[in-house]
Amino acid sequence: MKALPELLETGVRDALRHLYGPDASEQEITLQSTRKEFEGEFTVVTFPLTRLAKKKPEVIAEEIGARLKETLEEVKDFNVIKGFLNLVIADRYWMDFLLQSGVREGFGHVAGGKDKVVVEFASPNTNKPLHLGHIRNILLGWSTSKLLEATGHDVVRVQIINNRGIAICKSMLAWQRYGNGAVPEKAGVKADHFVGDYYIKFEQHFQEEYKAWQKSDEAAAILEEKNKKDLSPADFWKGYKNTYFNENSDLGRAAKEMLLRWEDGEPETVALWNRMNDWVYEGFDETYERLGVSFDKNYYESETYLLGKDMIDAGLDKGVFYRKEDGSVFVDLTDAKLDQKAILRADGTSLYITQDLGTARLRYDDFGAKRMVYTVGDEQNYHFQVLFEILKRLEEPYADGLFHLSYGMVDLPTGRMKSREGTVVDADDLMDEVIQEAYQSSLERESTSELSDTERREIIQKIGMAALKFQIIKVGPQKRMIFDPKESVDLQGQTGPYVQNAYVRTRAVWRKAGQRDLSQAAGYTQLEPAERELISLLYAYPGLLNDAAANYDPSMVAMYCYELAKNLHKFWHDVSILGADTEAAVAFRLYLCQAVGNVLKSGMGILGIEMPERM
Ligand code: ARG
Repeated sequence: MKALPELLETGVRDALRHLYGPDASEQEITLQSTRKEFEGEFTVVTFPLTRLAKKKPEVIAEEIGARLKETLEEVKDFNVIKGFLNLVIADRYWMDFLLQSGVREGFGHVAGGKDKVVVEFASPNTNKPLHLGHIRNILLGWSTSKLLEATGHDVVRVQIINNRGIAICKSMLAWQRYGNGAVPEKAGVKADHFVGDYYIKFEQHFQEEYKAWQKSDEAAAILEEKNKKDLSPADFWKGYKNTYFNENSDLGRAAKEMLLRWEDGEPETVALWNRMNDWVYEGFDETYERLGVSFDKNYYESETYLLGKDMIDAGLDKGVFYRKEDGSVFVDLTDAKLDQKAILRADGTSLYITQDLGTARLRYDDFGAKRMVYTVGDEQNYHFQVLFEILKRLEEPYADGLFHLSYGMVDLPTGRMKSREGTVVDADDLMDEVIQEAYQSSLERESTSELSDTERREIIQKIGMAALKFQIIKVGPQKRMIFDPKESVDLQGQTGPYVQNAYVRTRAVWRKAGQRDLSQAAGYTQLEPAERELISLLYAYPGLLNDAAANYDPSMVAMYCYELAKNLHKFWHDVSILGADTEAAVAFRLYLCQAVGNVLKSGMGILGIEMPERM
């Protein structure tokens, strides 16, 4: 079967030549999908044709429309709205498409053959458990990776785990001092939460120490000497906290000494560091598994934080970087509307950006991919602009294939997520909460009452996770958003469960159908409007996946699934399936349900969402 856009384009060109002469061969033809409010599926825009035809756009549209209807069996009818020629595709074309391609499992997916892409997502720090922001990150990164895979790319999923530095040393120190040898298993606490709790414990003790110290003579002298702006003591101490940590605090000193011992490879410190990080990884893995995601390779900051220095030397030789008198290394990006940016400290130690330079190269060496996607929150937009610009100037072979998949904050409706105050919404708790919501809302339905308890629990898990994932992925990555657990499970809303319910219907009708003569489907002759809409939507699926992948935007897939589900529900109400007048209609509609079910399952699968057979 020839694809419609090409077929129509050829048809329009032939019509132009026939109507307006040979110059038409060079003419650019603009074809779009028809706007919802008009009849038709494809629209030819005739405004650009006025020079060629020397007629008004609406006249041109009429003439081309008439010609197409006459010459192309695929064009059933047309209508003209100003300079827009809306084409109605023949029923036969849609029916053949559905029965030949649409019903195939895997329809829309490309088998492979496109380039390799490294997709980074999650990339947590090991001093704290994962929170709501990480959930958005993970869902976006994962679904984008699936989308790239579905469109034929070879995908490598990676994360960088920031497992070193002062933060984890705080947790280690607190565990040493206040832990009394406790371990997560005995404490009955999920292992990453266990370590996170010691980070919080450190902060609490540090605050107490700071408060008490503020009464000391040393503090009084500092207040006297440094409070130049005459702030109230409370305000002054608020701003002084970091300096206190670095210069006056016993706990701060102890934590920094621990970091130095770690950097020296002192065995006892390294052992403790290993032990606590292992707990954190174990906890992370549990959360990842629950979210249904995995990685091909983990990078660890402890192994990459010294990388990038050789690239700095190369960049100095090339004149991309310059060294200041104090020994620090800078890059001047002012001509790219970015700043002068430090990339190596005066003491020769590396910065966040230094290791990202080295890690980019390392990943290229590991996988040879010329495209890399970084899923990281929009507070790091500047960092990635700088990173990508530097890699370009260093003429790295993958420099043109870099993309920062940036995303906005997620809040809860009640404003419960205030990361500044440290009351973040924990990822594990949030999953529990959404599943609880899904359970509550399932009590209002009776459709699953004939199932066993285990089956029902499994279904509720699937509904809850679908609710969470869909609600987050459906929002364009760049937008800030509010996640409302209650709203996310609403079976009537623009939600994951709403889409699942459409899928469940497509399955239920097949279970109920019993033995039917499906070969009759080919004898179906005239489509109902609801059927047309469904089929033309199905037809658009492969193109939609390509567009979404080109934009790194899985929200387009979510919105597509919602549209398809909505049209399935409409079809369900408008058209009788098993009670249709003819066996041909019954068989055709069963196939239509099958095709819609397959595509819903495929599209939602890209989003990491599983479909229940009943709900
Ligand atoms: N762990 C970092 C954070 O939580 C994010 C790392 C992002 N990835 C990267 N390659 N820089 O802020």
